[in-house]
Amino acid sequence: DKGAYPYYMLKEIDEQAVVARTLAGHYFNDEGEIVGIGCGIGDTIKQADRLYIIAAGTSYHAGLVGKRYFENWANIPTEVHIASEFAYDQPLLSEHPFFIFLSQSGETADSREVLDNIKRQGFPTLTIANVMNSTLTREADFALPVLAGPEIAVASTKAYTAQIIVQAILAYSLGDVELDLKQELAKVAVEIQAITDEKMTFQAIAESALQNQHSAFYIGRGMDAAVALEAALKLKEISYIQTEGFAAGELKHGTISLIEEGTPVFALLTQAKTAGLLRGEVAQVAARGANTITISSKSLARPDDAYVLPEVDELLMPLLAVIPAQLIAYYATLARGLDVDRPRNLAKSVTVQ
Ligand code: F6R
Repeated sequence: DKGAYPYYMLKEIDEQAVVARTLAGHYFNDEGEIVGIGCGIGDTIKQADRLYIIAAGTSYHAGLVGKRYFENWANIPTEVHIASEFAYDQPLLSEHPFFIFLSQSGETADSREVLDNIKRQGFPTLTIANVMNSTLTREADFALPVLAGPEIAVASTKAYTAQIIVQAILAYSLGDVELDLKQELAKVAVEIQAITDEKMTFQAIAESALQNQHSAFYIGRGMDAAVALEAALKLKEISYIQTEGFAAGELKHGTISLIEEGTPVFALLTQAKTAGLLRGEVAQVAARGANTITISSKSLARPDDAYVLPEVDELLMPLLAVIPAQLIAYYATLARGLDVDRPRNLAKSVTVQ
């Protein structure tokens, strides 16, 4: 039931603050220790020399973010793969691989195909899914819940942030990290709420930047490049504005020729190490006529940025940076008079290859 909301997507965007709290409550006890992950999972992953994350679409984008936690916090090399590619072009594996399947529905045929292949090869598997009684959770050796609650809108929102959080918690449980993740997630929840409370800002951005546009870009570096892919998918899949998500440094290697007078280029700027470079890239596209809309984090902000995000641990910034993109996609679609929850040609769960 979408209650007072005009569309499920908006309700599900708003629910992300609650989901972050739910996950912290489920996976941590009152002392801030991890309780929601069985020792079988940790012990098995610790024997692995490499993690392989397998997923499709938005879940694949969540995996691109999750990789950073497994590498930075758990110190395990991690590869992220598109399920439909991995299924028929399996790369050379490490000696002791461990497979993580990420899925909202748990029924995605492309991911199921990979799971079947991997089980035949005898490697250990974990599914992180929102639907717990699903094929992918039943057939993997281990399963962890995403606890986002039913996601009805075709465009995935809360499952994305929740998958990122579960990966962060799992990686945290495997390593020896200074950060108090439980407390940081509480902060994430507060700040997600603060961003979703500013809907009018994003409606105004969507209406001024995207009205009458047929193409758009999202750019970023590092974790922001990963979020840019998801931001672009959100915008294009429901508004039908052709949108590319780009690692900002790649623009000059070809794609910058697409920039025209007024082309909207959204820049996500939350990573200190590359902020200066990204500022340069924003200036380059602006010099070629782009309408640049920069979404930055507080300590990296400049006065003419379109929106300044509150700050949490830098590795967790994707959880905040994606929210404006979800809301901009929502309002751009609404402004075009389209059905936000049911974009053409798409199904919520893709059960065919
Ligand atoms: C986009 C979207 C899809 C799914 C993809 C995988 O908003 O929802 O890209 O993420 O079809 O689905 P799951 O996560 O159910 O395996």
